[in-house]
Amino acid sequence: MDLPFATALVTGASSGIGETMAEMLADAGVRTLVVARREDRLADLARHHDLIEPLPADLTDPGDLDRVAARIGDADDPIDLVVNNAGFGTTGEFAELDPDRLATEIDLNVGALTRLSHAALAAMVPRGRGWLLNVSSVASFQPAPRLAVYAATKAYVTSLTESLHEEAGPSDVHVTALCPGLTRTEFQRVSNTEQYADRFPGMAWTTPVEVARAGLEGVVANRAIVVPGLQYQLMAAATSVTPRWLRRKVSGLVQRG
Ligand SMILES: NC(=O)c1ccc[n+]([C@@H]2O[C@H](COP(=O)([O-])OP(=O)(O)OC[C@H]3O[C@@H](n4cnc5c(N)ncnc54)[C@H](OP(=O)(O)O)[C@@H]3O)[C@@H](O)[C@H]2O)c1
Repeated sequence: MDLPFATALVTGASSGIGETMAEMLADAGVRTLVVARREDRLADLARHHDLIEPLPADLTDPGDLDRVAARIGDADDPIDLVVNNAGFGTTGEFAELDPDRLATEIDLNVGALTRLSHAALAAMVPRGRGWLLNVSSVASFQPAPRLAVYAATKAYVTSLTESLHEEAGPSDVHVTALCPGLTRTEFQRVSNTEQYADRFPGMAWTTPVEVARAGLEGVVANRAIVVPGLQYQLMAAATSVTPRWLRRKVSGLVQRG
């Protein structure tokens, strides 16, 4: 891939979409800092790619989050592309779920993403150069009973990112929300969505390579929202003309099976 970035920082790069994107960036000659909690995974990536540098951090830990935000704001070694990709979900009836886990999910999907988006734009807008890619989900386009907090966090991510896209436009800073559908990663195990995800046919699935590539191409082209895969582009188009009550009913049927 021919990319305009010299440096990048990708959160959630120890597996799945983030790992694939970090490898793609390094293969394209971009020096890439990789953030996640599992240091061994990040070290493995760095062993296989000269241009990958581990930056281990738990983004729900305030001290770690400050450290990563400070790295993004370091004017002596600017980061051209920031990818806020780290995230997870929690499946089940809301009232029966662990409230501490839900709070951590909001801290990561919303709190850390907002803080690092701020660090990125505070550095990029005065420079008049930069790219910010926030990983949301097609779950941001409608409520998702039994995945309620996750869908709400992703609705926040898409809304925030669209606003920032408009704000940053005059500064020539690109801001994009990447909204994947079902993608086979560790997400299904971590978020306990295997129970319904496994029922979907092969054509419903996109690959981490497809998603990562669409995200990078989308932020280079300064698209506000990128939905990888024709099947999900059609779904998103149908969603925009479907009454709200019908969207949440259908979404509830999908999650319950
Ligand atoms: N897979 C899908 O079907 C799908 C669909 C739509 C959207 N998405 C979104 O895509 C993004 C990437 O997910 P994925 O599918 O690639 O899942 P994944 O394989 O589970 O990757 C999640 C990444 O987030 C990192 N992470 C989790 N908690 C963290 C924390 N507290 N601090 C720092 N890093 C943390 C994980 O690393 P450590 O555990 O090492 O910290 C891992 O690298 C997420 O935002 C997800 O919501 C996924």
